[in-house]
Amino acid sequence: MVALALTGAGAMAAERPDALPWGSDPPAGPAMARVAAITSVGRQMFFDKTLSASGSMSCATCHDPAHGFGPPGAEPIIMGGARLDKPGTRAVPGLTYSAATPFFSEHFYESDEEGDESVDQGPTGGRTWDGRVNRPRDQAAIPLLAANEMANESEAAVAARAAAAPYAAEMRRLWGDTLFAEPHRAVQAIGEALETYQESPSEFSPFTSKYDAWLRKQTELSAEELRGLKAFNDPDRGNCIHCHKSKMTPGGGLPMFTDAGFVAVGAPRNMAIPANADPTYFDLGLCGPERKDLAGSTEYCGMFKAPTLRNVALRRSFYHNGIFHTLEEAVAFYATRDTNPERWYPTGPDGKVQKFNDLPAEYQANIDYEPPFDRKPGEAPAMSEQDVSDIVAFLRTLTDGFHPAVEAVAAPHPSHPGDLK
Ligand code: HEC
Ligand code: HEC
Repeated sequence: MVALALTGAGAMAAERPDALPWGSDPPAGPAMARVAAITSVGRQMFFDKTLSASGSMSCATCHDPAHGFGPPGAEPIIMGGARLDKPGTRAVPGLTYSAATPFFSEHFYESDEEGDESVDQGPTGGRTWDGRVNRPRDQAAIPLLAANEMANESEAAVAARAAAAPYAAEMRRLWGDTLFAEPHRAVQAIGEALETYQESPSEFSPFTSKYDAWLRKQTELSAEELRGLKAFNDPDRGNCIHCHKSKMTPGGGLPMFTDAGFVAVGAPRNMAIPANADPTYFDLGLCGPERKDLAGSTEYCGMFKAPTLRNVALRRSFYHNGIFHTLEEAVAFYATRDTNPERWYPTGPDGKVQKFNDLPAEYQANIDYEPPFDRKPGEAPAMSEQDVSDIVAFLRTLTDGFHPAVEAVAAPHPSHPGDLK
């Protein structure tokens, strides 16, 4: 901040290689005002249906703020396109807390977190279920142009629609008068605005869940929720913590409930997704078909990014293909995928259960067998039915909007995080 103020002379900016794109190097106050203005424009864009070819679809149509910026309904996919008749192929992810996602890397080493820095965690990070873009500003171009989403014909069409929007004058003020004559730059500006909006903590990462309040010692968890937390963290039962990080970081940060790692959990094929009517079509996540650069890395086929579980109780379809519609099912799948596969997968004409029916046989070696998986039929599941329902109760404490003032406890409860080591 000090450096900015000292070198703030606009006249110097032109000679400086790191000069900001709008041509000057303002002191902190104006820079903050600019961020606020961009956030406000980004918010308007996020809810603006006129940015789509149909005129009736905005980002918020699929990413509903009342559902953690995830899908408003229980359908696994949402119809888009100019006539809203073109189906998507994947469940809409929630967007809360996603700003913390690291950029994609095939070899991820944990830095200041609980892990051992020398351990290669494998593919991690990036945005979408297959991590194929890193920045929300680049991500935004996907739905704006995708034929089955907002379906703009070209960048020029996006720019023309934005030029007619109520916030067009503000865009010219922020990015220059000639912005709309340069469609690519206009799309970049839209991306920047949407990204900035999605990074606003008050709407996208407020940390106002009951669990956050409990970590801050402002409230108690019920006995059921506490049992759920213990089962969630217990390496011999849920072991959920392995991928869905639930503890404060050593640096004092609140947990994100994901390590953004890629894993093949073997979700059953969802025949409610129209693309799956074609028996030769498989959504293989990291190795395609949406993502292209890792098509040859068949050891990654079937892997999808672990989503955060914050606000997961606001969803009504779960996993990348929206196969499950209740949290109970989404959790019970971990308990009995291997002990009772017939509960999750269809039975073929030969009477055999078609386990992992959404992954061609040659890739099934990629399936994850860490606990709670890897029990044989006939063995007891790693989690009891009680554990499953306790974990579901715990997951419901991860929804933002809890008001500890109403339920505050006078003294710190003995069940604070230090007791759960
Ligand atoms: C038709 C429904 C639909 C619309 C409209 C839509 N999205 Fe999405 N969004 C999705 C789906 C589905 C995915 C997952 C895509 C994938 O994995 O390939 C996604 C993924 C994302 C992600 C990545 C989340 C993560 O961290 O993994 C972001 C960010 C996002 N959308 C933002 C937006 C923005 C901004 C807009 C408006 C410009 C928008 N979306 C419009 C359906 C939609
Ligand atoms: C080895 C890593 C790993 C472990 C352990 C793990 N998960 Fe997951 N979880 C994932 C991945 C990856 C996905 C997404 C899979 C997909 O869509 O195909 C996921 C998805 C989910 C979802 C769906 C979320 C959504 O937005 O659709 C829930 C709920 C969930 N996990 C809960 C749990 C619980 C509860 C446990 C412990 C019983 C657990 N997970 C253990 C990696 C893991």
